[in-house]
Amino acid sequence: MTKVTVLGAAGGIGQPLSLLLKMSPYVSTLALYDLRLAPGVARDLSHINTNATCVGFDKDAIGEALDGAHIVVIPAGVPRKPGMTRDDLFKINAGIVANLVRAAAQHAPRARILVISNPVNSTVPVACETLKKMGAFQPGKVMGVTTLDVVRAQTFLSDSLGADSYSRESMKRAVTVVGGHSGATIVPVLLDPKLRSKLVGRRRYDSYVHRVQFGGDEVVEAKQGAGSATLSMALAGYHFADQILRSIHLEKPDVAPLPAFVYLPGIEGGAELQKKLNTKTEYFAAPVELRRGDVVRIDTKWLDSLGDLERKTLQVCLGELDGNIQKGRRFVQSKL
Ligand code: NAD
Ligand code: LMR
Repeated sequence: MTKVTVLGAAGGIGQPLSLLLKMSPYVSTLALYDLRLAPGVARDLSHINTNATCVGFDKDAIGEALDGAHIVVIPAGVPRKPGMTRDDLFKINAGIVANLVRAAAQHAPRARILVISNPVNSTVPVACETLKKMGAFQPGKVMGVTTLDVVRAQTFLSDSLGADSYSRESMKRAVTVVGGHSGATIVPVLLDPKLRSKLVGRRRYDSYVHRVQFGGDEVVEAKQGAGSATLSMALAGYHFADQILRSIHLEKPDVAPLPAFVYLPGIEGGAELQKKLNTKTEYFAAPVELRRGDVVRIDTKWLDSLGDLERKTLQVCLGELDGNIQKGRRFVQSKL
């Protein structure tokens, strides 16, 4: 019996993500919470003939929505409009994430918390620091969802190399993405050096990296003020949640370990990663190993296949990431 609660379930990501979760054989209860419309969305989904029971909760029923949840997914918050950076969302979304995480700690203390709300590089530190303050922080249970970067990195790699010879499906183990989730902090790492050489040889490496780093802007521009990626994000969020659900149910993952933006010091492999990258950063996205749905180890194997170009991109990433992380930490620490 596994309960998943979606906070922000009536939004652009929340609705399709809830639909995908309703299709999951691992979900027995799907609880939808939003400031508006969640009961309506839940009633709609509840007519689908899959086993999960789907219930919606009004604004003042967050405790009930969270009660006993094994996984809490947070896509609540405002999205970007053209001309904005993810950091511009911090003012509004930091408070939303802090309040929702506080409620999750009170009503679902054993839940894994999946943070989608942007800016992830700062909202994850907000979530972790909030939990630390409450004495409720468990490092392996808080994950920033960066899966969309991996989905894009695979799609764009196939595009760059030529989809006739390099199909999108065949790219699933060819590339991962580490670092953070905004602009220069997004670092695609090619796991097959031959593919990197091909991109470099065809002079497509720089444009490929740029497209992965700024793929979010492409969608924001194309939606002309109506928001950012929702459908591709819902799929990415579902893939990530599915890995956790499979791990809870002792099933093998069906894809290579996905990265998550996590707090390094509390997790095995975190100190090794810091040492190998020569950094003190406390938060970083890297592929994670799960046990019973919790992050138990940070994978560092990808470091072995790094090329000089990726090392340079990583240095830029680490320089930028720190400011994002400190902003999140300061936000929580400044509140009494
Ligand atoms: P949206 O505006 O369509 O939906 C957000 C929903 O959150 C709304 O239904 C709103 O009512 C709800 N909400 C706001 N405050 C809430 C609160 N306190 N409690 C419960 N619900 C609340 O936005 P969206 O397109 O779904 O995007 C949501 C967030 O996800 C944005 O911050 C966006 O930047 C981010 N995002 C992240 C990624 C990623 O890769 N991590 C990808 C895409 C979007
Ligand atoms: C994305 O990468 O699509 C999301 O982070 C949304 C955004 O603001 O770009």
